[in-house]
Amino acid sequence: MTPNFRFAVVSDLHIALPHTIWNHPSRFHLVEVSIPAFESVLEHLTQLDLDFLLLPGDLTQHGEPENHTWLQQRLAKLPFPTYVIPGNHDVPVIAGDSQSIGFQDFPQYYRKFGYENTEKLYYTCELLPGVRLVALNSNSFDAEGKQIGRLDEEQLQWLEIILESATDELVLATIHHNVAEHLPNQSHHPMASRYMLENASTLIEILQRFGVKLVFTGHLHIQDIANNHGVYDITTGSLVSYPHPYRIFEYHQNKYGNSRLQVLSYRVESVSEYPSLQTYSRQWMRDRSFPFLVKLLTLPPLNLSIAKAEELAPNLRDFWANIADGDTLFDHHPHFPAEVSRYFQAYGAISSSGSPALVDNNISLFL
Ligand SMILES: [Fe+2]
Ligand SMILES: [Fe+2]
Repeated sequence: MTPNFRFAVVSDLHIALPHTIWNHPSRFHLVEVSIPAFESVLEHLTQLDLDFLLLPGDLTQHGEPENHTWLQQRLAKLPFPTYVIPGNHDVPVIAGDSQSIGFQDFPQYYRKFGYENTEKLYYTCELLPGVRLVALNSNSFDAEGKQIGRLDEEQLQWLEIILESATDELVLATIHHNVAEHLPNQSHHPMASRYMLENASTLIEILQRFGVKLVFTGHLHIQDIANNHGVYDITTGSLVSYPHPYRIFEYHQNKYGNSRLQVLSYRVESVSEYPSLQTYSRQWMRDRSFPFLVKLLTLPPLNLSIAKAEELAPNLRDFWANIADGDTLFDHHPHFPAEVSRYFQAYGAISSSGSPALVDNNISLFL
């Protein structure tokens, strides 16, 4: 029987020491709060009797060596073990350059946080007796050297061997890219498909075959829990964008062997320089959403003209903040064409039958 345990997930920390912050006007993330927000989360987590902490990637702003070093030193002081994986921003280039570390350098920074073997960017370890972690690397590069979200053949084969030989009762998986759709038609949407793992269906088939039901992801910066053929993809929003969330999980098994995972979500409400972080950050996102909304409205399937998109966009300024919150229902918009209104309603927290399903933040998943 698996013991009951408690752990936390904090994703997309995008740690940026003040002198490493680069500014461009359309930046969507409030990296200024990365360190104080993480400290605020740690203050909470260190009061709990946590068994471990998972960080599913985008640990740093953009792979800067000083930001990786800062994080590695901070994690070493925690009273519980931490396990990390790389996000696209942690290993943005194959060979290190003036800004970022090289792809193969990543494990060197995190020897104490999963990477006992620094040869590979993925690993497995026993978290607790009978509980195993499979920590995957979804970052690779295509023939032109462009970064893509995909598991290579070698890693897939390794995964099958690991799962075949694992005798653990429970296996948890973590990977930066999404393995289930968190947005309507995410795999094919021109703006959202890059958040999905390209070969998610191959991974899901393997996980399903070996009874792995829980995958912890990041990358999309929203709070959402989705299911792909019986496998839950629990994606946690970013610590540097609204609503600055993190999650605590409690695993319980009763005497009949039935187990459930209790999901509890929290937010960083304030940090020293931003006493009303939630209000400030929601407004920050709202102020920067116009170009994103115009693009969304003019692309398929809506294909609106630029003029029409610019007319409608101001009414949708809170759309992405509401998505990031999770558990949001979108009302029919009285001034919108019916087709546009229906399109946005589909982004709401509704089940396939159309009824409300508030599953993104606080829920018990029966396994
Ligand atoms: Fe991110
Ligand atoms: Fe990412």
